[in-house]
Amino acid sequence: MTDQSKWSESYITDWEEVENIQDSNRSQTKASGQGLKVQIGIPEQTRKEVSHGLAHLLADTYALYLKTQNYHWNVTGAQFFELHRMFQRQYEELGQAVDVIAERIRILGFLAPGGLHSFADLTSIKDGDGSADPKDMQLDLLNGHESAIRRARGILTQFEATHELDRKNIDTVTQGLLIARLEAHEKTAWMLRSCLAESHPAAFKAEGVRLSA
Ligand SMILES: [Fe+2]
Repeated sequence: MTDQSKWSESYITDWEEVENIQDSNRSQTKASGQGLKVQIGIPEQTRKEVSHGLAHLLADTYALYLKTQNYHWNVTGAQFFELHRMFQRQYEELGQAVDVIAERIRILGFLAPGGLHSFADLTSIKDGDGSADPKDMQLDLLNGHESAIRRARGILTQFEATHELDRKNIDTVTQGLLIARLEAHEKTAWMLRSCLAESHPAAFKAEGVRLSA
């Protein structure tokens, strides 16, 4: 027997074992299928609605992650190191958020979108232009974060309206996730806005306005 045929034989044997295990799991699942249903005290319709919103937020976050990494790679000019580092901190934070949001959708019992085409269908945030001026990159990112803020706030408002009717089964974990995303995007937006205040004084004149007593 050649090495190749030995390898093929052991591969087939292993694969047959895997199939046997899968068959056995399938029959056990059929027998006690109830145990695999998501029964976490949140009605299916509520889980479905919130997962739908989270899928949009996931796509926004992924689009913003890609755009920020694009700018991290392609930014040029006198502020290169400062912006290169700032964009890196931002895309790393977004990358972690992508995982948290996708896993929340899974925990709620639905498939998370996971491809560029599905993300493109779910978000309105467009690809960045790597040849753009550094200020335009920051402005584009600011607009992206504000778009994600409006998305997260919209889901939270809808979420709270749904739960208003059912105070017993509040999904506090998703609520916390949405608040955490709002907090992160708002902080990044504030930092970007502050960076741009000097070059866009008219647009950012509200910055530094004193609060009246
Ligand atoms: Fe890098």
